[in-house]
Amino acid sequence: MTAAALPLVIQGGMGVAVSNWTLARAVSRAGQLGVVSGTAIDDVFVRRLQDGDVCGSIRRALEHFPLPDVAAEILKRFHRPAGMPEGEPYKALPMYRQAVSALREQITMASNFVEVWLAKEGHDGIVGINLLTKVQMPNLASLYGAMLAGVDYVLMGAGIPREIPGALDAMAEGRAASLKLDVEGALPGETHLITFDPAKHLAAPPQLKRPMFLAIVSANSLAMTLARKANGKVDGFVVEGWTAGGHNAPPRGEMKLNEYGEPIYGERDSVDLAKLAELGLPFWIAGGVSSPGGLAAARAAGAQGIQVGTLFAFSDDSGILPHLKAEVLAGVNAGKAVVFTDAIASPTGYPFKLVRLEGLVQQDDTRIRNCDLGYLRSAYRREDGRLDYRCSAEPIDTFVKKGGTVEGTAGKRCLCNGLLATIGLGQRRDDDVVEPPLMTSGDELQTMQGFLAGRASYRATDVLDYLLSESCPTELPAAVTYEAPVAS
Ligand SMILES: Cc1cc2nc3c(=O)[nH]c(=O)nc-3n(C[C@H](O)[C@H](O)[C@H](O)COP(=O)(O)O)c2cc1C
Repeated sequence: MTAAALPLVIQGGMGVAVSNWTLARAVSRAGQLGVVSGTAIDDVFVRRLQDGDVCGSIRRALEHFPLPDVAAEILKRFHRPAGMPEGEPYKALPMYRQAVSALREQITMASNFVEVWLAKEGHDGIVGINLLTKVQMPNLASLYGAMLAGVDYVLMGAGIPREIPGALDAMAEGRAASLKLDVEGALPGETHLITFDPAKHLAAPPQLKRPMFLAIVSANSLAMTLARKANGKVDGFVVEGWTAGGHNAPPRGEMKLNEYGEPIYGERDSVDLAKLAELGLPFWIAGGVSSPGGLAAARAAGAQGIQVGTLFAFSDDSGILPHLKAEVLAGVNAGKAVVFTDAIASPTGYPFKLVRLEGLVQQDDTRIRNCDLGYLRSAYRREDGRLDYRCSAEPIDTFVKKGGTVEGTAGKRCLCNGLLATIGLGQRRDDDVVEPPLMTSGDELQTMQGFLAGRASYRATDVLDYLLSESCPTELPAAVTYEAPVAS
């Protein structure tokens, strides 16, 4: 597929490194849009290096990074040719803040560069990068690193990415870009910015391709705001419903929970596709459409195609540890895997889906709290006017000292450490305890037996063959409504 043609299938971005370069490359080579996740990829990158970079892929990609001195410095600091000695913890990166050192920024750039470069290596398919709007502080350096590797698409949700299109325009021209940093307790009129200047790193920043920007939305109003009021061009939308994996948008209005404690979604949360189409931009439907009939139904409703997560997440090509995938797929085949939409687990405040399966060891309330990755920390204004950072999953007394409440910490999970453990990069703590995994999935996990047909494993290309096979349209998921406009 050429960069100009729009894909039918987008393999959804899935953090942390579930949609890694291997998965994105497999999808991209097969002619659809493979998407790497840039969320926390800098810590993934330095841990992979500490594990030895056994196949040499990172070092191969780094040879093409336009800052050779930085690449050499990164290797000197993090590459351990013999891998991690038994029992030793990974060397950590300093947690992000509003402003970080040049090297910290360069590590973020390099890690995103490497992920995209590897996903694009050896073919001319298209590759995208997914970032969470809410994880604000590393985003500009991440995007610039991805652009240095020629990323074709940027896909962002989990917040309102109004300032991203303009930032892409600026950085493509080698100019500095800024985003407004959300600061809890900021005084009226006070503005805090995150700024990234390519000229700080490259003597003559090159002209770069401006990637297509797709905003991930779950409401017509948000799509309209972005189409009309973003500071640059939004090239299309991914309409993501509440059955999708990872974070979900909260239900409209007051959050009401069902008897199990999950958010209740209703008609008000559905996106009207006919109205969306009036914006004149291409869109893809995500969540509960991962079947050939789902793709046909999406197309019949005016969508360009679909974005699929869960089926790809459990394929052999994804970053999830093989034994965890095998355990979950065995649970699916036995009809025992459940997906729970947890209204409070994520420090972001958004509902977050968790896999529940008897015997699956995952992070729970017994974890000794420790905040050392910090991607979900939010900035807040201290009384003296300076900024500090807090996360409701950090140690309770620390959070409370920073002005948080004890109630605010209830049921919180450390997504950063849990998601890194899910891909085999869990931190080692005292007494040889390794951080336990935390598994997310879309609701699709509960209904994918038909696709699995008893198989214990499958490849990403099997997912594409399945999705792209002929079928009549099936029903669209409840998260979207469509009534064909009446011809006048
Ligand atoms: C394991 C997993 C992790 C995910 N992580 C992210 C993420 O980091 N960012 C994002 O925008 N969407 C994320 N998603 C959502 C997917 O990109 C996709 O939109 C969604 O899963 C589509 O629904 P489906 O699972 O029914 O196919 C994730 C989904 C899964 C299954």
